[in-house]
Amino acid sequence: MAEILQKVIDEARQGEAYTTLPFEAERNTKKFYIESYGCQMNFSDSEIVASILQGVGFGATGNFEDADLVLLNTCSIREKAEQTVRNRLQTFRKVKDGKPGMLIGMLGCMAERLKAKLLEEEKLVDIVVGPDAYRSLPALIEEAQTGQKMVNVLLSRDETYADIAPVRLDSNGVSAFVSIMRGCNNMCTFCVVPFTRGRERSRDAESIIKECTDLFNAGFREVTLLGQNVDSYEYAGITFAQLLEGVAAISPLLRIRFSTSHPKDITDDVLYTMAKYDNICKYIHLPVQSGNTRILQLMNRTYTREWYINKVKRIREIMPDCGLSTDVIAGFCTETEEEHQDTLSVMELCRYDMAYMFAYSERPGTLAEKRYADDIPEKTKKRRLEEIIALQRKHSTESYGNDIGKVVDVLVEGESKRSADDWCGRNSQNKMVVFPKSNFNPVKGQYVKVKITQSTGATLIGEIIR
Ligand code: SAH
Ligand code: SF4
Ligand code: F3S
Repeated sequence: MAEILQKVIDEARQGEAYTTLPFEAERNTKKFYIESYGCQMNFSDSEIVASILQGVGFGATGNFEDADLVLLNTCSIREKAEQTVRNRLQTFRKVKDGKPGMLIGMLGCMAERLKAKLLEEEKLVDIVVGPDAYRSLPALIEEAQTGQKMVNVLLSRDETYADIAPVRLDSNGVSAFVSIMRGCNNMCTFCVVPFTRGRERSRDAESIIKECTDLFNAGFREVTLLGQNVDSYEYAGITFAQLLEGVAAISPLLRIRFSTSHPKDITDDVLYTMAKYDNICKYIHLPVQSGNTRILQLMNRTYTREWYINKVKRIREIMPDCGLSTDVIAGFCTETEEEHQDTLSVMELCRYDMAYMFAYSERPGTLAEKRYADDIPEKTKKRRLEEIIALQRKHSTESYGNDIGKVVDVLVEGESKRSADDWCGRNSQNKMVVFPKSNFNPVKGQYVKVKITQSTGATLIGEIIR
């Protein structure tokens, strides 16, 4: 089996399309289908799960009707995320009814949050596995094949899956996610993640650099280092800034991104390291959540409005061309109209290029659920959210509009999803750039210079400069 696994890894590292399924050709192998929800960590975890399953002879299929094992890697961050997964299960119910023996497994944060309760609530689920228990999947599947319902939701203090080479699912062969830490020790009161992902732990730096080097050798040209709070990375005295430097040194042709930064933890060291290396992308995702200090305190974000604004100033001092995006929550417990206005005004000051914006969704078991009443009416939350979205739309349009006339470096990812006549890729600031093919045939992963001629609020449109 080790040999087969090696073959998979080797093929994976040659930059093959991972939807070409190495096991499909082999007889008598079972097939798994996996769908991921939620954050990039979950998508990255699914690649680890795929690796574990292929190691025991399961081949991936892109069609759930063909699968012997259907896995949903789930998210609990907002109620809607959980509802989406529950609705999705109904689709699988029909297939399972006509296919006895097909197993359905729930992975990820919903599995961790609901544990065995999920088996009671969703009768068609056979296996429930939390984010730190994926190594036990083969054993659980074997037991489940005898008709047993199986659960493993043990959280770990040291699991990082450092030794498992992820099988790149749905990869464009250019850009990959590399998980550098797991869990979260910040107790933001609204957030379910510390309960579903457990304690924070950092992955062995050497294994991270090796994975990135292997990706580069396989033709990948961009890695995104992932963690809930990358700035608190620490392994054997190595800080996040040092890790960044180590990955940046692999090759000037390898772009590095990272996510997510916590405003309280991102250091000048990190900012200077970013500034020093051209291949570390000038882009920071810096979730603000609220622009009001009292609300930030209730959220246990541990910074104030002024601290946050100063952080953004610092970023712009050190890297004037740095792209900036954020997360915002509308209608947190007890938020007044004035406090909501503070969120709008912090957006005016920071001028984000992009934002993820949410209405507060109370999550069972969180500190906010225990401490405060979810007292902002849904209608008010929705209206505040709409105001936030409208303002961000204006800022995005301005930000993208300001790029017209600039020449930007684009890493070509492939054909534009919207038009077969265009190529697409991102600039350093993480903005999507689309440009006509016009007889130019770049290899995937090639860098090109593009002059921006038009923009929307979410895409730059330009022409290649030869
Ligand atoms: N670790 C990252 C983000 C994790 S979750 C960080 O600390 O920034 C991604 C985003 O979901 C959060 O930044 C927050 O804006 C949003 N979110 C988390 N819990 C939420 C809740 N209960 N209701 C609404 N939005 C929430
Ligand atoms: Fe959740 Fe806060 Fe941790 Fe982010 S930093 S995952 S918002 S607890
Ligand atoms: Fe969702 Fe879990 Fe990520 S709750 S956002 S999948 S860490």
